[in-house]
Amino acid sequence: MTDVPEEGQQRRTFFKIGMAAIGGLIGLAMAIPLVGFAISPAFRKASKKWVDLGIADLLKGSRYKKINYTFSAKDGWVETNKRRSVYVTDQGDGTFQVYSRVCSHLGCLVRWDEGKDQFFCPCHGAVFDSAGNVVAGPPPRPMDKLPVKVEDGILYVKES
Ligand code: FES
Repeated sequence: MTDVPEEGQQRRTFFKIGMAAIGGLIGLAMAIPLVGFAISPAFRKASKKWVDLGIADLLKGSRYKKINYTFSAKDGWVETNKRRSVYVTDQGDGTFQVYSRVCSHLGCLVRWDEGKDQFFCPCHGAVFDSAGNVVAGPPPRPMDKLPVKVEDGILYVKES
């Protein structure tokens, strides 16, 4: 058995620690992009998209016409089909107004009452006028009006 001088052992230990530290840094540098790639969808905001509501000419003269539709949306890693319901009304000047049926109180679906010319929410009795403003009940704000556009004769609504 040979005796290694103490100075040589210290140098060998220092070398081992240095190599482990360099290896750790290289591993960390390689892992950060992979972890970022794996978890980034959770932090990405869902992008809004335009959804086809139908042929604009066929909706001319519509007065609070209920339209149900589905669209696919990516939320994090998962892409799902979502169902929505809106009221479409022709403003008479070539533009349309689209009201979300989701009540601004707690999310029940509002209904258009043609006879009373107002929206009604069956859950807690909210009443909105024909412009979506709160007339009665607990909602803290008016009904949501969704962005719309007509392109190539098709009426689109913007969904998130
Ligand atoms: S959810 Fe519509 S009034 Fe409460």
